[in-house]
Amino acid sequence: MPNYYPLLIVGAIIGVVTTIFIIAYAMMKDKKTAIGFDRNMKDTEIVKRILVYAKPHALKFLLVGLFMVFAISYDIIAPILVGEIQGLIKTQGFEMSRLLAMIAVYGSILLVSLVCTYCQSILLQKTGQKILSSIREDIFSHIESLSHAQLNRIPTGKLVTRVTNDTNAISMVFTHILANLVKNFFIILGVLVAMLALNYMLTLMILCFVPFIVIFTLIFRKFSRRAYRRVKDATTDINTYLSENLSGMKITQIFNRQERKAEEFEQRNVALDKARHQEIFVFSIFRPMVYMLYVSSILCLFYLGARGVILDTEIFGQRIGSETIVTFYMYINKFFNPIQTLAEQFNRLQAAFASAEKIFSIMDMQPEVVDSEDAVELDEVRGDIEFKNVWFSYIPGEWVLRDVSFTVKANETVAFVGSTGSGKTTILSLICRNYDIQKGQILIDGVDIKKIKISSLRRHFGQMLQDVFLFSGTIRSNIVLHEESFTDEEIMRTCDYVNATHFISKLKDGLDEEVRERGNNFSAGQRQLLSFARTIIHKPSVMILDEATANIDTETEVLIQDSLEKMMNVGTMLIVAHRLSTIQHADNIIVLSHGEIVEQGNHFELLAKKGRYYGLYMLQFEKERLRKNN
Ligand SMILES: Nc1ncnc2c1ncn2[C@@H]1O[C@H](COP(=O)(O)OP(=O)(O)OP(=O)(O)O)[C@@H](O)[C@H]1O
Ligand SMILES: [Mg+2]
Repeated sequence: MPNYYPLLIVGAIIGVVTTIFIIAYAMMKDKKTAIGFDRNMKDTEIVKRILVYAKPHALKFLLVGLFMVFAISYDIIAPILVGEIQGLIKTQGFEMSRLLAMIAVYGSILLVSLVCTYCQSILLQKTGQKILSSIREDIFSHIESLSHAQLNRIPTGKLVTRVTNDTNAISMVFTHILANLVKNFFIILGVLVAMLALNYMLTLMILCFVPFIVIFTLIFRKFSRRAYRRVKDATTDINTYLSENLSGMKITQIFNRQERKAEEFEQRNVALDKARHQEIFVFSIFRPMVYMLYVSSILCLFYLGARGVILDTEIFGQRIGSETIVTFYMYINKFFNPIQTLAEQFNRLQAAFASAEKIFSIMDMQPEVVDSEDAVELDEVRGDIEFKNVWFSYIPGEWVLRDVSFTVKANETVAFVGSTGSGKTTILSLICRNYDIQKGQILIDGVDIKKIKISSLRRHFGQMLQDVFLFSGTIRSNIVLHEESFTDEEIMRTCDYVNATHFISKLKDGLDEEVRERGNNFSAGQRQLLSFARTIIHKPSVMILDEATANIDTETEVLIQDSLEKMMNVGTMLIVAHRLSTIQHADNIIVLSHGEIVEQGNHFELLAKKGRYYGLYMLQFEKERLRKNN
């Protein structure tokens, strides 16, 4: 009868450690938040949606599975071979040729396994990248379909995190997590079957450790989920902060707020750092725990095995040879390793699911401004516009436009005037359905804009927004906006028309001059002229212009003024101009105050009224006079 005391000691140690863990788990705070990452979607639903992306690559995954089977075969067969070789060497006067043959078999299996592992991982990575890029494309084009109001609600940094980090997490499901899960599962199964066939009693002894692994894993899952979640939140937070503050860096410098901003950044950085440390800490506890179980089981194996071999006694009713010990020693390693990674992979899978849910929740955002079913294509636009009792609010209940009604006849120029925040930009952005109105109707050539296809509406309308946005690229790419059909001559003619050749011709590369992010290597006036060119070249029937308030030099102002006057003759034009001199010739001037129309008429009619427009005009007139006198 063997002495089981050493086994009891090992058991006691494991028992104590497990108890400590269970107590730590019981004391863990905010267990609820740690459990589900606050997920609303079920795992099965997420898996279904992720699998949609894998479907086109089903054949490749099948091939990966095949390679995997070959790769795994090494893990199962190698320990037996090594045991056999060990047994062979031990016998006196063994045949060298047999040994060499066994080594050759071992080498061949190893080689096949290596080649298969290589092929499997290359194929998996390539497929994973393809899936990743299609998810990225999908989410990007979905974001493109969202309305301005929806885009306003999500910080850009968050969107960047979705398109980069989160899509990455999903692709990891295919490239690492699923493959490893399947592989490890089969290794565990294979090893178990092989061990049972070899010596079921020893196998049962090893299986005694499994419940402890399960307990550790369950506890670890809870802790690590919380850690993952913190890391994710901190990453999104830092991305959001970065994207906003890098764009606003110049303001930070102008107002000497670098230190303050650096402090704010540091706070976020420290939070991320802390979250990462916690994550590492959780892993650093878990791995040694499983390692402890692994070492304990090896100790038990050696203790029992050595006794069995040396004393030549039965262990649990079975005799064992030294080959069995060697083979089991290797199997235990192959058994514990995948169990440990399996637990970690499950966590990664959960984290990936959390990312997937975030992506899908953006994908599920129904675009608010969409074509109605009976929407018509507008082949041509005359340019009659009518606002009929339009009410609009960005935030429910806070009306920005109240009962606004006006008409614009084809080829007329209508100007909007009013103090800041009175709703001028808002009116202009409603015509092309950047936002949808809540009450009333907007008609183009007598057709409700909700009944017109958005793409056709925007094709006929040229919008020049208050904040001119230039993309990084060239002057040419910013004017044609990736429509290849324009010739250089056409582009130059347009630039000439809007008085932009004046500065373009002075540039070293002309139309190919580089435009840096947001056009920051051009002046405000130049940017505006480029935006005019961009609009005019697409030959819109109606032009909507929201003039920037930025101060521009007198020379550029004259150029802008001139090109504006030219544009007014092109077709219907709706304009917000801050210099009243620009709009003196407008057919109708609409004066707004707090979202309501307070006056309208042409320049002279409004002056004669001596109302709000008269007041504004006199103010600017006086300012101009003082400027000239100076
Ligand atoms: N995206 C938005 N979300 C919420 N409120 C908004 C949004 N855009 C504008 N507003 C609000 O709507 C009102 C009208 O804004 P709008 O931009 O139309 O003014 P404006 O007349 O163009 O002013 P300015 O002369 O300064 O350009 C303002 O009170 C503003 O605070
Ligand atoms: Mg405005």
